[in-house]
Amino acid sequence: MTPPKNLLAVVAIVVFCHASLAESDATEGFHPCCSFPCQNQGVCSSRGYSDYECDCTRTGFYGRNCEHATLLKSVELLVRPSPETLHHLLVNYEWLWDIVSYLGPLHRFFMKRVYLSRADNVDTPPIYTSRHEYITMEAAFNLTYYARTLPPVHENCPTPMGVAGKKLQPDAGVVTERLFRRDIFKPSPLNSNVLLPAFAQYFTHQFFKTDKDGPQYQWGGHGVDGSHIYGNDKEASDILRSFRGGRLKSQLLKGEEYPPYLKDAPVHMTYPPNTPDRQKFAIGHEFYGLLPSLFLYSTVWLREHNRVAAILSREHPDWADEQIFQTTKLVIIGETIQVVVNDYVQHLSNYHIRVAFIPDVLFDTPFQYQNRIALEFNHLYHWHPMMPDDVTIGGRTYSMSEQMFHPEIVVEHGVAATTEALASQISGAMTFRNHGNATLSVAKEIILAGRQLRLQSFNQYRKRFHLAPYENFYDLTGNQEMADAMEELYGDIDAVEFYVGLVMEKAAEKAKFGLGILEMGASYSVKGLMSNPICSPEYWKASTFGGQVGFDIVKHASLETVFCQNIRGKCPHVSFELPEELISEQPCTGGGCKNAEL
Ligand code: HEM
Ligand SMILES: *[C@@H]1O[C@H](CO)[C@@H](O)[C@H](O)[C@H]1NC(C)=O
Ligand SMILES: *[C@@H]1O[C@H](CO)[C@@H](O)[C@H](O)[C@H]1NC(C)=O
Repeated sequence: MTPPKNLLAVVAIVVFCHASLAESDATEGFHPCCSFPCQNQGVCSSRGYSDYECDCTRTGFYGRNCEHATLLKSVELLVRPSPETLHHLLVNYEWLWDIVSYLGPLHRFFMKRVYLSRADNVDTPPIYTSRHEYITMEAAFNLTYYARTLPPVHENCPTPMGVAGKKLQPDAGVVTERLFRRDIFKPSPLNSNVLLPAFAQYFTHQFFKTDKDGPQYQWGGHGVDGSHIYGNDKEASDILRSFRGGRLKSQLLKGEEYPPYLKDAPVHMTYPPNTPDRQKFAIGHEFYGLLPSLFLYSTVWLREHNRVAAILSREHPDWADEQIFQTTKLVIIGETIQVVVNDYVQHLSNYHIRVAFIPDVLFDTPFQYQNRIALEFNHLYHWHPMMPDDVTIGGRTYSMSEQMFHPEIVVEHGVAATTEALASQISGAMTFRNHGNATLSVAKEIILAGRQLRLQSFNQYRKRFHLAPYENFYDLTGNQEMADAMEELYGDIDAVEFYVGLVMEKAAEKAKFGLGILEMGASYSVKGLMSNPICSPEYWKASTFGGQVGFDIVKHASLETVFCQNIRGKCPHVSFELPEELISEQPCTGGGCKNAEL
């Protein structure tokens, strides 16, 4: 009689497990939500010491774990293409997207869908910070914190990732050495030049401003506010302004306009001790004297500000300095967003649809014009592998350390030559074993910060952004050697950390990144850009920008115009892609970079 015996065994096991579970709950105090039982964005709360409850409200799912889709949701899931499918459609069928991009109303319809579907992934108002595992009022009101898209893993869990993986995470130094340290330089798979990572760093540091008090805190304005040009507060801004014609202070060096020396505009800047005066410039962001590329962009945007201020002064001879300055700032923010959407996002996404900045398509929707920078957004933007180990300007090669705190390199070669140099050199791929020596420590720091703030696993974030969790390491990386190394380090695919997963993920079809960075980055980015005040119905009109003249400057801005209107003489190739004639000369494996295999 085997069945009863089996039954007995089962009963015994159940009783035993229950007893031991209850005991471990009581003694070790594991939180019942450690295993993240609630699916589909259901909210987990403990009920007593050993049970949990999922709140499935407005998720479209029901059941103990919010695992069952309602009829309506099932239909929606059935007809809604997966992120993989959508990505495939957008990076192929160029002829189709050419037609869509050409037909105004259809193009507007698609852009509206893009804005809304991306922004929908970001909670507004924000609900979590790194301080609590649950929703708080503080999350919505305390701007000192970065927002969190997923709350921290509970403190009392069997493992740092909840229940998955080992009790102790692999040493962060070992992770960076084995998975991140650059062995050979892996070039950008889509011919991006160094102007691209330089722009990424320049643009995003206006809102990624981690506070010295800890990685959960920030000192920025939670959006595109121009603080990297104008300073973080009025005090700094007043020092940078000339108070004449709405202009910023500047100086002529070798016949070109540059930011003032620090001694002439003493804002707070970070330079090593004993840096000579002629290497110390005053810029809106205290770190932008760090690299020639940051100084290049700072110079070009300063020139653009003063150029626009002159145009508005001519247009409004009756306006005082203050109004010209404030209005020019609005134009500059508008131009910035225009360039970010048209040039930068277009290039990063590699979509064939013309990615356009059309704020008014959202005016008949309940879109919310407020934004909070998420900690996860900051982490995923650590694109240090895109920086090459050295840069050649005017025939001279500068290693990373030779560039650091040497903004005067730009003055020596001039803006045109520096631009041409960065535009002609390929950048690195955001992939495994491609962090240059100079920034390897930054990668280690971000892993440690992620652990300190108990970020949930990469797979948890995949699910949050509608991507299927990976089932094994090979699926994640697409590279056997890396998969084996990761398996050894982490043991369980559900224990892979957020930043490590993002870097190690295989690139999506015809893409610079894995779908993780693409889907999450696009969501935070679109939300942040389109929720800028200037995109709202009350701001988005000609009078905000000093009349039609200013509005047209905003609407027609591009990376090329911003550079070329501020470079005297012949303007070099300005784009985020290498010039056509250089594409095969780069250090790529096989025949040129177009189809470089990583
Ligand atoms: C070779 C050039 C670069 C150097 C030397 C460099 C260096 C650094 C350093 C020292 C930090 C501070 C790390 C810490 O406090 O723990 C940092 C932070 C950061 N870097 Fe880079 N970086 C470079 C390029 C880039 C690029 C191309 C990006 C792409 C967007 C980038 C994105 C970031 C971000 C998002 C942060 C966090 C900023 C914050 O939270 O305050 N960096 N980098
Ligand atoms: C915001 O949080 C920080 C850090 O916990 C705290 O020092 C500060 O007082 C809070 N601000 C407000 C307005 O509660
Ligand atoms: C690598 O970076 C470290 C720390 O930034 C530095 O001390 C070391 O000299 C660098 N090594 C090389 C070969 O550049």
